[in-house]
Amino acid sequence: MEENKEEKKRMLSGIQPSGDLHLGNYLGAIKNWADRVNDYECYYFMADLHTITVRQEPAELRRRSLIQLAQYIACGLDPEQNVLFLQSHVPAHAQLSWVLNCYTMFGELSRMTQFKDKSSKYKDNINAGLFTYPVLMAADILLYQPDYVPVGEDQKQHVEITRDIAQRFNSIYGEVFKIPEPFISKAGARIYSLSSPGDKMSKSDPNGCVFIMDEPDVIMKKFKRAVTDSDTEHPVRYDKENKPGVANLMNIYSTLTGKSYDEIEKEFDGKGYGVFKPAVAETVSDALKPIREEAERLSADKAYLDGVYKDGAERAAYIANKTLRKVYKKVGFYQG
Ligand code: TYM
Repeated sequence: MEENKEEKKRMLSGIQPSGDLHLGNYLGAIKNWADRVNDYECYYFMADLHTITVRQEPAELRRRSLIQLAQYIACGLDPEQNVLFLQSHVPAHAQLSWVLNCYTMFGELSRMTQFKDKSSKYKDNINAGLFTYPVLMAADILLYQPDYVPVGEDQKQHVEITRDIAQRFNSIYGEVFKIPEPFISKAGARIYSLSSPGDKMSKSDPNGCVFIMDEPDVIMKKFKRAVTDSDTEHPVRYDKENKPGVANLMNIYSTLTGKSYDEIEKEFDGKGYGVFKPAVAETVSDALKPIREEAERLSADKAYLDGVYKDGAERAAYIANKTLRKVYKKVGFYQG
């Protein structure tokens, strides 16, 4: 038994509690995490340190940090089998981040697309944290020596810079960090906004975004209004270039039902968008209903969630501090 456990590969990932979790987070990330618990040793956290690169309302951040834990568990992440924790509860993240800052180049951070996007969106608050955000993310990852980092496609560049930083550090000091691989599942890797299918689904566009806690009538309304195209016969056909809205709905439907695009085209042959959109809405509602109900139930039990966080922070810190000690030693910090 023990031997088997040691052979398990390790996974780690996180989500910022900067907004309510949405279908993109669920299909792009959490669903894949929950599916893999038996095969990997898993660490999942709420990236609260990252959220303050953009101004947050403190009470809201606190509330969401707790609710997000309830939602992780409701999505199938059992806190016994997975280490679930809040980033700010494990000081090693901030500590390693400083060290890695000194092994990361200004030029490489300047090329990060998320920095370019966010600095054009929040022009009055282009703070240093927004710029060094990928370094904190590298620290989050490298502390745990994971084999894989399961994320949606938009985070791939950040995992790549993590690999570059780790390789640079290792080339100076020897094999300190394991070089992690991004783990991007094909289905759900990029869910687009329902209202503007050229953009990824994100909380900043609430009309095009389906939240995990949305009630069925809200979900139905959002899907019925989903932007498709002006093809007169409304054919349900997969054509990402010319029919991105329909392709997005088909991707969502396929990810949740396991049906291929061919099968979906056959299922809705001759039926048009008027039938297809509500069918997708219902599938999404059915998938989210048990999650929503369980998350609501767990959210009411603050003592339980606090206990999970406390236990998670201890288990996470145990691994993280081992790596940090090694790094401190390598760079020459006196440890007595
Ligand atoms: P965040 O909080 O923006 O998103 C969390 C996860 O959800 C995925 N995701 C999507 N996937 C598909 N379609 C979408 N529309 C969509 N929107 C979001 C993201 O790819 C991600 O996997 N920097 C990270 C958080 C983070 C992290 C880490 C992740 C901090 N440290 C260490 C992994 C490892 C972020 O902002 O993700």
